[in-house]
Amino acid sequence: MSLMTWTKEQFATNVTQHDQEHQTIFDMVNKLHESAGGADRSAIGKQLDALIAYVAEHFGAEEKNMIKCSYADYPQHKLEHDKLVQTCVDLQQQFHAGKAEITRDTTAFVADWLVNHIPNIDRRYSPVMNGAGIV
Ligand code: FEO
Repeated sequence: MSLMTWTKEQFATNVTQHDQEHQTIFDMVNKLHESAGGADRSAIGKQLDALIAYVAEHFGAEEKNMIKCSYADYPQHKLEHDKLVQTCVDLQQQFHAGKAEITRDTTAFVADWLVNHIPNIDRRYSPVMNGAGIV
């Protein structure tokens, strides 16, 4: 069974681009979860790098749209993004230096963060973006 399942009811932001990005992130987390803790460090490293790059790209896209619609909670939202990216980049460096492993606890941490962030933080921008024509 997958670690994460995207459902419209739980995760839809009503911004098509960001809903698609969230679904891609869920797929990538699920794939990394399958590999996590396994022997193939090279494959895990590639999946980890791709996931972090994609998440950073997604955060950048959301931030661009928040700025575009003068979203009042932008600074706080960006701070949440920056904190997660910093945590992940630190882990990525540790992993590539051979000082840390990617385990299923790691992927569960990322999944928990997303399951909290998307419904409680991302969804708040929906009416503002929709009102600015970002749908
Ligand atoms: Fe979809 Fe604010 O991350």
